[in-house]
Amino acid sequence: MTGETLLSLDRATKRFGGITALDGLSFNVTQGEIVGVIGPNGAGKTTLFNVITGAYTLTSGTISYRGQSIGGLRPHRIAGMGIARTFQNIRLFASMTVWEHLLVAQPRGNGWSHLLPAAMGDKAARRRAEEVLTFFGLEDLRNRDAATLPYGLQRRVEMARALTAGPRLLLLDEPVAGMNADEAEELKSLLVALRDQMGLTILLIEHDMSFVMTLCEYLFVLDFGSKIGEGTPTVVRRDPKVLSAYLGDDE
Ligand SMILES: Nc1ncnc2c1ncn2[C@@H]1O[C@H](COP(=O)(O)OP(=O)(O)OP(=O)(O)O)[C@@H](O)[C@H]1O
Ligand SMILES: [Mg+2]
Repeated sequence: MTGETLLSLDRATKRFGGITALDGLSFNVTQGEIVGVIGPNGAGKTTLFNVITGAYTLTSGTISYRGQSIGGLRPHRIAGMGIARTFQNIRLFASMTVWEHLLVAQPRGNGWSHLLPAAMGDKAARRRAEEVLTFFGLEDLRNRDAATLPYGLQRRVEMARALTAGPRLLLLDEPVAGMNADEAEELKSLLVALRDQMGLTILLIEHDMSFVMTLCEYLFVLDFGSKIGEGTPTVVRRDPKVLSAYLGDDE
């Protein structure tokens, strides 16, 4: 179902000592949308993902997901509720195949399994990994050492791994970084398919403006931890505040 709020932040603030990385940030993400988060370096975009996923605890304010407050929950609990992410700096394991990456990442029981042999025996996990592998067109690369693949493919493996948990909300931190134009175009179709076929809601941080402006239905613009603009790409690219803080150099 679309039109409902899936994720909601209310005056979310995160301080690191004297640095205010998120400064009273409030916004809602509607279920089924592909939403972009843009803004200059250091604006607080990655911190936003870190507080949503429970990697960091908010200094003040609230985050709710499907109407339930998730502030203060442990990362594996939040992941288990259907929020998955990828990282700005690719985090793949050395000496592990693509297939193995898809199996170890699946949450089970109370937490996340880091025990490969256990995961290998789980039929449901294997079926899910197989589905995701096919969806991402990685079948031929299943036995390759993931960390030695070209950068664009590593990013794809990371996304596939995030998907094996069967999330509702996917957070992507600069998914296009390191991809060439063709790979970025393919990724765009893939993300639309994920939303259309799996009903995912996608929140993505990206500096590649042509990617963001052509893919996202809605954008939030951050600067110094605050929201300085939001709306459709058409609205945001004409917003004088956004232009001077971020888009000015670009256009
Ligand atoms: N763990 C941390 N400890 C201290 N300061 C941090 C930490 N994480 C982030 N910061 C600071 O918070 C601010 C926001 O950082 P963040 O990584 O969220 O920015 P960003 O918008 O993702 O930037 P970029 O586009 O460069 O990735 C920066 O000033 C950063 O130095
Ligand atoms: Mg970042």
